[in-house]
Amino acid sequence: NYTQKWKLNVIRRNKHSCFTERQVTSKIVEVKKFLQITCENSYYQTLVNGTSLYKNCKKLPLENNKNPTIKKNAEFEDQGYYSCVHFLHHNGKLFNITKTFNITIVEDRSNIVPVLLGPKLNHVAVELGKNVRLNCSALLNEEDVIYWMFGEENGSDPNIHEEKEIRIMTPEGKWHASKVLRIENIGESNLNVLYNCTVASTGGTDTKSFILVRKADMADIPGHVFTRGMIIAVLILVAVVCLVTVCVIYRVDLVLFYRHLMRRDETLTDGKTYDAFVSYLKECRPENGEEHTFAVEILPRVLEKHFGYKLCIFERDVVPGGAVADEIHSLIEKSRRLIIVLSKSYMSNEVRYELESGLHEALVERKIKIILIEFTPVTDFTFLPQSLKLLKSHRVLKWKADKSLSYNSRFWKNLLYLMPAKTVKPGRDESEVLPVLSES
Ligand SMILES: *[C@@H]1O[C@H](CO)[C@@H](O)[C@H](O)[C@H]1NC(C)=O
Ligand SMILES: *[C@@H]1O[C@H](CO)[C@@H](O)[C@H](O)[C@H]1NC(C)=O
Ligand SMILES: *[C@@H]1O[C@H](CO)[C@@H](O)[C@H](O)[C@H]1NC(C)=O
Ligand SMILES: *[C@@H]1O[C@H](CO)[C@@H](O)[C@H](O)[C@H]1NC(C)=O
Ligand SMILES: *[C@@H]1O[C@H](CO)[C@@H](O)[C@H](O)[C@H]1NC(C)=O
Repeated sequence: NYTQKWKLNVIRRNKHSCFTERQVTSKIVEVKKFLQITCENSYYQTLVNGTSLYKNCKKLPLENNKNPTIKKNAEFEDQGYYSCVHFLHHNGKLFNITKTFNITIVEDRSNIVPVLLGPKLNHVAVELGKNVRLNCSALLNEEDVIYWMFGEENGSDPNIHEEKEIRIMTPEGKWHASKVLRIENIGESNLNVLYNCTVASTGGTDTKSFILVRKADMADIPGHVFTRGMIIAVLILVAVVCLVTVCVIYRVDLVLFYRHLMRRDETLTDGKTYDAFVSYLKECRPENGEEHTFAVEILPRVLEKHFGYKLCIFERDVVPGGAVADEIHSLIEKSRRLIIVLSKSYMSNEVRYELESGLHEALVERKIKIILIEFTPVTDFTFLPQSLKLLKSHRVLKWKADKSLSYNSRFWKNLLYLMPAKTVKPGRDESEVLPVLSES
């Protein structure tokens, strides 16, 4: 009791595709905007066993078997044909209902304000005669333009070339453009002038400038100058180390030279009579004859006649008789140094007092300095008083009969170094080389 006419339009199925192109719903989505595709069929909803979603006829791996859905921000890769296929059983037969969306992604239709990338003013260090490429790149809209501007008052420069613009679309549907200005065979006229790159759109313009400067004009230190500076610093360091080493090795010579140069004299004001008291073995036995000769002849000859010192040698300077112990003590008090000529048989009763008196002056009262001369090699120092071992090792001089004869030998230099500074020098009537000691 109810009739209605239907007009049924049957479209032939495309055998090579999963959908029919004449039966698609087109949708245009802007990039970055919300994209949603939902497979729904309200009419058959209760009958549908399952639904699948295909993109360009490839099944998408979606979890939801009932209503597969895509919800995301649109990207250009999302463009394509999306087919929802609903499967349902009816009278034992499997039917499918297909609905296809034609999704087109278009770029953002709102315009951006174009921007040039990088700093607004660029100093480019160049060498004359070389080439340089100035790269100007910008983020801009499709219809925006990018161009170079530079002073061409002297006619166009044949060495300046604008290269072809390169444009790449960004995922946001905007454009990344770069345009290179190539300057060949750079000359003076290319230096210190502005090369401007401008991007222009309806929304405004942006400009950045390049200035070519000669490489040496750059403010920061170039690499080779830095390297040179480091080398110089290292050389100075090495020189200082060498100088210090030389000073340590030739300490004695330098001090003697300094004393000579400054005419230093530390003997004038201390009120003492003698520069040194010589303590040696008094008994003149044949086996220590050399030692005796050294103390009584060689030492005074060199120190007194040649270098102008005044020595106190008991045997020579003290008239016999009187209280020997008191005499020695007062003589040591009047002396600036105590020279001990040391040998194995040194510690006799007679010198013991000199030694003890000198040590007292040196170590307790600090009025006299002790100089030890090792005349014959001494291996066993146990016979010496304990306090003598506190002497600094450089205050012990070794006499080497063969090497120590010349006035310029290290032995005499070291001895002069330990002696007080004194300027008075007698005339040089002596020969420069001492007579060789008698070989006994
Ligand atoms: C899909 O949409 C695009 C853009 O609107 C259109 O050019 C194309 O013809 C459509 N495809 C079909 C099969 O309708
Ligand atoms: C589909 O639904 C029919 C009845 O509605 C049922 O008999 C059949 O088992 C279902 N098949 C699947 C694969 O779910
Ligand atoms: C839909 O059903 C037809 C006929 O039953 C079949 O040939 C076709 O492959 C099916 N399509 C899909 C996408 O399963
Ligand atoms: C210019 O610089 C941009 C990035 O700053 C880069 O993507 C482009 O490749 C460069 N062009 C040339 C020709 O070097
Ligand atoms: C380049 O730009 C600067 C400021 O941005 C402007 O003062 C100068 O005149 C411009 N030069 C050229 C050749 O366009």
